[in-house]
Amino acid sequence: MTAASEVLSSRLGGLSPTVALVLGSGLGGLVDEVEDAVRIPYGELPGFPHSGVSGHAGQLVAGRLAGKPVIVLAGRAHYYEHGDAAAMRPALEALAGVGVGKLILTNAAGSVDAQMPPGSVMLLTDHINFAGANPLIGEQTDRRFVGLSEAYDADMRAAFERAAQDTGTPLHQGVYMWFSGPSFETPAEIRMARVMGANAVGMSTVPEVILARFLGMRVAACSVITNLAAGMSAGELSHQETKDMAPIGGARLATVLKRVLSAGMLED
Ligand code: HPA
Repeated sequence: MTAASEVLSSRLGGLSPTVALVLGSGLGGLVDEVEDAVRIPYGELPGFPHSGVSGHAGQLVAGRLAGKPVIVLAGRAHYYEHGDAAAMRPALEALAGVGVGKLILTNAAGSVDAQMPPGSVMLLTDHINFAGANPLIGEQTDRRFVGLSEAYDADMRAAFERAAQDTGTPLHQGVYMWFSGPSFETPAEIRMARVMGANAVGMSTVPEVILARFLGMRVAACSVITNLAAGMSAGELSHQETKDMAPIGGARLATVLKRVLSAGMLED
């Protein structure tokens, strides 16, 4: 057990969540729906990031969502903050340390596909690590050679598809391409991303997926599309647009997530 998982387990009381959620930019609203919430600021959890990105609150909330025990991480560290791809490692180790075996990652992303407009939700089928950084660089054990052929868990993906159908929520699927940020992409980069097989582009999630697979967790991830990517519409992209638009797709994502949980689709 890490120092953070000891603090966490002492605060969980009788709760033993096996599912955790990481909420991306503008998607933090879901923490307010957690019942019997235990709220722990990241500052009280050794190794957790001190995130400075607006729209990222920086607290762990444990409790019940849609009746099921969960841990919600509201706020994440991004590679672009300090150039550390492993910044989320202590947080994910703490989750693994208290028995979390399934991780659901969410993010805000730009769409490379005009048929997937802002407000859409995209379930990740795979990713492209275009930033080229890796959170396992420096890891000394052979466990660093993590296979990523099935990074996004097939059963968890099926659960999201089923939940989307059950709730009548449109759910796209596609490949997420990780750019380091914090600048947005150029139109030429977006044309490249499309040729390379990306459907959405963003600045997060991929390092966490790699870390979670390293830690033996099963992973699902969803993007909320906040904008068409660079060059696909008039005007400049902005973080304000990301924050303003995220709640629209975020409401759809919340509907699907709550159905996944309430129907017990992740319990096996
Ligand atoms: N690019 C990268 N990250 C993003 C975008 C984008 O267009 N929109 C929201 N996050």
